[in-house]
Amino acid sequence: MRLVSVVNQKGGVGKTTTVANLGHMLAMQGNKVTTIDLDPQGSLTISLGQADPTLPGIGEVLLDDYSIKDVTHEVRKNMQLVSCGPRLAELEQMHQGSSEIANRLKKILRKMKNQDFVLLDCPPSSGFLVVSALYATNEIIIPVAGDYLALHGMSHLIGTLTQFEKSLKLKHKTWIAITRYHPRRKLSKDVLDNLVSHFPGQVLKTSIRETSALAEGPGFGMTVFEYRNGSNGAEDYKKLALDFTKGRTLQ
Ligand SMILES: Nc1ncnc2c1ncn2[C@@H]1O[C@H](COP(=O)(O)OP(=O)(O)O)[C@@H](O)[C@H]1O
Ligand SMILES: [Mg+2]
Repeated sequence: MRLVSVVNQKGGVGKTTTVANLGHMLAMQGNKVTTIDLDPQGSLTISLGQADPTLPGIGEVLLDDYSIKDVTHEVRKNMQLVSCGPRLAELEQMHQGSSEIANRLKKILRKMKNQDFVLLDCPPSSGFLVVSALYATNEIIIPVAGDYLALHGMSHLIGTLTQFEKSLKLKHKTWIAITRYHPRRKLSKDVLDNLVSHFPGQVLKTSIRETSALAEGPGFGMTVFEYRNGSNGAEDYKKLALDFTKGRTLQ
């Protein structure tokens, strides 16, 4: 079982889009996949279209007596969603006395049965929910949008991650996924080259191109494979899923 946090403190870089579409493709390739909505905004829960973010979710599992089964929804063949829940927002504000809750999340993930991949969709922050996600998983995917400011945020993010790993004596296998890529834009190409030279062997081979179908699908509760299979976005996430399972990266 691969336990993966999808993180970036920057919003709008494609974390939720990646969890939904990479998750769905991995499931279509025959893997058992659980996705977890750890963002109090509930974008993943809404994107997948089969669950209600205002009903109890992972927030209520961590703070109340709900069991994980109560908040797990079968959203596609081979694919489950653990929805967010209204109390998740309280957790984002937590600091002290919260290690028990972080431990609870870790235990829940370890106990998941017959799953090949567990993907955690993190909020755009470096608060308690992200720290708990990192604590509970051993791999990270960092989606990076192909623009200069995204690149700038990376050094901050890597600094935070390194500090965190040091203090908890953890080491994550870290992957970078380039998202919202414009193949004809020089800036996008420069950002890609820059990432590969700083993080050789960590940038997943396929960049996800900016594709309108990827932006439109969530409004209909559909992944790109349902909304517009054959679009650039569908092709790219299909390839990304193979990169991720086979460990194909750019050197
Ligand atoms: N490759 C892409 N092409 C077009 N739109 C995208 C792409 N990736 C993400 N988006 C859109 O950009 C917005 C932000 O993406 P999202 O996955 O929600 O980012 P995050 O979870 O990092 O905040 C959403 O409206 C989403 O549909
Ligand atoms: Mg998101």
